Amino acid sequence: MNRKVIVTMVALAALAAVPALAGKSSVELGKKLFNDPTLGGSTNSTSCNTCHPGGKKLANAATRKDLTAMINRCIVGPLKGERIDGRTVAMRSLKLYIKSLAE
Ligand code: HEC
Repeated sequence: MNRKVIVTMVALAALAAVPALAGKSSVELGKKLFNDPTLGGSTNSTSCNTCHPGGKKLANAATRKDLTAMINRCIVGPLKGERIDGRTVAMRSLKLYIKSLAE
């Protein structure tokens, strides 16, 4: 493979990652995703809100060191979705929303 092809491939890969990493994370987006049954590519009708209505009882979870892993456990388990990278706007927003419940 020549250099040009490799450079193009790297550029394309970076572009593909942009939608997930660019943009701004926010409590509002986190709340929306929390109520979204398609989160993580989930194909069932379950959202986070199904089991944690209004985020109740999650207030204490904000300080968990393994919060990303815990969220992913609930995405892969009940939502039957795919785990979300911790650096994405989606995961950062979900965490912001959960942290906002503790305030
Ligand atoms: C089918 C019900 C169900 C759904 C849907 C669900 N969870 Fe959970 N969740 C649980 C249960 C049960 C626990 C506690 C058990 C445990 O710690 O493993 C829990 C624990 C948690 C905790 C830790 C709570 C604590 O007190 O430390 C967080 C954070 C959390 N869920 C977030 C989410 C998010 C975000 C979603 C959506 C992606 C979600 N959950 C979807 C059932 C669910």
